[in-house]
Amino acid sequence: MEIINKIKANAKKHSKRIVLPEGKEERTLKAADIILAEEIAQIILLGNPEEIKQTAASLNLNHIEKATIINPKNSAQKEAYADLLVEIRKSKGLTKQEALKLVEDPLYYAVLMIKNGDADGEVAGAMNSTGNVLRPAFQIVKTLPGISVVSGVFFMIFENKSIGDNGILVFADCAVHPDPNERELAEIAVMTSKTTKAIIGLEPRVAMLSFSTKGSAKHPMCDKVINATRIAKEIDPQICIDGELQADAAIIEAIGKSKAPNSPIAGKANVLVFPSLEVGNIAYKLVQRLAGAEAVGPVLQGMAAPINDLSRGCSVDDIVSLVAITVNQAAGK
Ligand code: ACO
Repeated sequence: MEIINKIKANAKKHSKRIVLPEGKEERTLKAADIILAEEIAQIILLGNPEEIKQTAASLNLNHIEKATIINPKNSAQKEAYADLLVEIRKSKGLTKQEALKLVEDPLYYAVLMIKNGDADGEVAGAMNSTGNVLRPAFQIVKTLPGISVVSGVFFMIFENKSIGDNGILVFADCAVHPDPNERELAEIAVMTSKTTKAIIGLEPRVAMLSFSTKGSAKHPMCDKVINATRIAKEIDPQICIDGELQADAAIIEAIGKSKAPNSPIAGKANVLVFPSLEVGNIAYKLVQRLAGAEAVGPVLQGMAAPINDLSRGCSVDDIVSLVAITVNQAAGK
């Protein structure tokens, strides 16, 4: 995939430190081996070093010796990270004893490494649920200034190059925030526009999707999208955005022209923002399965540091790609 090759080539220029908390998981180790061989990133693996080395040897992986391996259970940083966690979670009443236990969890340790400046990004989720990967990230690194929600983007890549921009459409939020209010939906649109530009270099044209085009239906759900479009322009006056638009009016030129003749976006959107996670998650999976699109992501956005969540069904290639994307996010920070 041309776009992934570009992202990997760019990652190689930056030599960022990516922590993989699922250190002895086989796909993760195979991906780490490729990443180290191709010098896409520096790799930190969390887990028992003996177990990790044994698994790597049994898989004939020759590059794992270049990784830094840390066991959170007996790390020299354990005490300091526990103090940092107590400080961050003091409003929640977290005790030192509780913090010392949490620090032993690789998913907490990884995020504390980032918070403490000891790693630049994290990729996890090959063997943990989205909630378990995201909760420490939300609690410890939190969101970017001015942004209250984290959301997830998919780059949908089609063989048919006439779709979107040269066969690429960007979908959000398909992964994280179940029921955004109008302000949160506006933030998701603004972040998705920035992610599109930063990671794949497209000039974003953002369509705020609904079941109505420019007042064709009246409903509080349509009002949410209309208001979110207005708020997105207030947050980022440069953003190229329009809504509310139906999906066909957003991406099919003739329909865009007839349903929304004055829209700068209708018919030529390359970024589709869905009104809720329910719609976004269902839509990306249907497009992936029925239209045969490659779905690259979710790439998480809005977090104060790059942390990305894998699907538990991910392949080795998916992990390599997501690490390369995470390096690009860290480089652009
Ligand atoms: N952005 C930023 N912070 C958030 C967000 C968000 N979207 N959601 C919750 N938080 C924060 C909260 O403010 C809270 O912070 P605090 O502890 O400092 O007060 C912390 O995270 C925990 O909040 P909870 O409400 O307890 O969050 P919970 O852990 O229950 O849920 C989660 C968060 C797991 C992300 C939930 O929203 C969720 O399950 N989302 C759906 C994820 C999913 O299953 N996606 C589909 C599968 S992925 C795929 O198909 C590609």
